[in-house]
Amino acid sequence: MVHKIRGKVVRGNSIGRKLGFPTANIPVAAEMPVQDGVYAAEVRVGGALYRAMVNIGTRPTVGDGAGRFAEANLFGFDGDIYGEPVAIFLLGYIRPERRFAGLDELRRQLADDRLAVVKYFNNVGL
Ligand SMILES: Cc1cc2nc3c(=O)[nH]c(=O)nc-3n(C[C@H](O)[C@H](O)[C@H](O)COP(=O)(O)O)c2cc1C
Repeated sequence: MVHKIRGKVVRGNSIGRKLGFPTANIPVAAEMPVQDGVYAAEVRVGGALYRAMVNIGTRPTVGDGAGRFAEANLFGFDGDIYGEPVAIFLLGYIRPERRFAGLDELRRQLADDRLAVVKYFNNVGL
């Protein structure tokens, strides 16, 4: 089943941008019935639909564990969408969220995630 998340983009702390993977962050309720982890997704912004990699969780590597977010890195998009409503369609589960020893490890994992998500879209032929 495809899970859909709707919300407005809030300001993060721009670490993603420094890592080379800027993210649109959307708060999600703790009760939302979806497993934390990384997903292949499509994200609707305004009238456009983008492929994306999305992390659902509490960001144990950089966060204080407070708050649950959907963080979407949109492929082929680099704009300012703070405050805008987006819809995220979770299509394929890639891996669980985990705590990394540092930002270099996280950056390497994000590069691998991107490859995995590209492969997902190639395989399903979307
Ligand atoms: C595809 C993807 C996978 C991620 N995986 C993890 C993870 O396994 N562990 C973690 O602590 N954070 C993970 N994150 C969250 C990043 O730590 C976070 O996006 C980054 O620190 C930027 O946050 P900011 O937008 O608030 O600056 C992931 C983010 C993305 C987009």
